[in-house]
Amino acid sequence: MTLTDSTTPARAGVRYGDPDFALEATSPVIEHQLRHRSVRAFLPTPVTEEELRAVVAAASSASTSSNLQAWSVVAVTDPERKRRLSDLAARQEFIVEAPLFLVWVADLDRGHRLAQRNGEPLDATAYLESTLLGVIDTALAAQNAVVALESLGLGSVFVGAVRNHPEEFAGELGLPPHSVAVFGLAVGHPDPTEDAGVKPRLPRPPSCTARPTTPARPTPACPRTTSAWPPTTAPTG
Ligand SMILES: Cc1cc2nc3c(=O)[nH]c(=O)nc-3n(C[C@H](O)[C@H](O)[C@H](O)COP(=O)(O)O)c2cc1C
Repeated sequence: MTLTDSTTPARAGVRYGDPDFALEATSPVIEHQLRHRSVRAFLPTPVTEEELRAVVAAASSASTSSNLQAWSVVAVTDPERKRRLSDLAARQEFIVEAPLFLVWVADLDRGHRLAQRNGEPLDATAYLESTLLGVIDTALAAQNAVVALESLGLGSVFVGAVRNHPEEFAGELGLPPHSVAVFGLAVGHPDPTEDAGVKPRLPRPPSCTARPTTPARPTPACPRTTSAWPPTTAPTG
């Protein structure tokens, strides 16, 4: 059986909560991404050093604005520290339970230190654009890491609650100035008893070229570039 025989329509259909939704093009990576789900229950099995290195290498392979790589990641495994970080992040217990907690940091401090070392001013970091650059670089790297760790059989969940108390969080991790924790990522081997499936997403506009028109389900007109999607009312087609 090829990937496109029956598995792809089923997975894509689950993702969009629409059993009729099918993909005509696929790849092992897309198949893998269609299976993504956040994991909030973990086995105590540790994440190995080798796995962590592979995940960080995948993160480092994400595109990065001007190749500045304005992000850092802190790997936390110490249970006491995870407990303190969990307390600062809405007491989400899975942070303690996960064998590994990765904290993704938008890091403009490295640039500051390089500028200082070379006796150059670095006014640019005071601009909103630099902050956005750091946060975007961080998010791209972290999502690459999620795809990679899931390919190793690991699971994870992002933790935006690390921004509930940003200064205390930075203090606990000893983050330098000009840096901020953007989100955490609890990582570990998924507990198979966790009853969490793939969560559906909002409907997407059907492809104008790839989706066949059938009398029973005509392809709706392609949305104009100026109109919003998803529409406020469900398409009737
Ligand atoms: C930036 C970001 C922050 C998140 N923060 C939390 C969080 O603090 N706690 C939590 O349980 N899930 C958190 N999540 C996970 C989302 O709730 C989850 O991705 C979403 O419900 C979709 O589910 P899925 O990942 O299983 O498809 C976060 C996700 C993202 C992208």
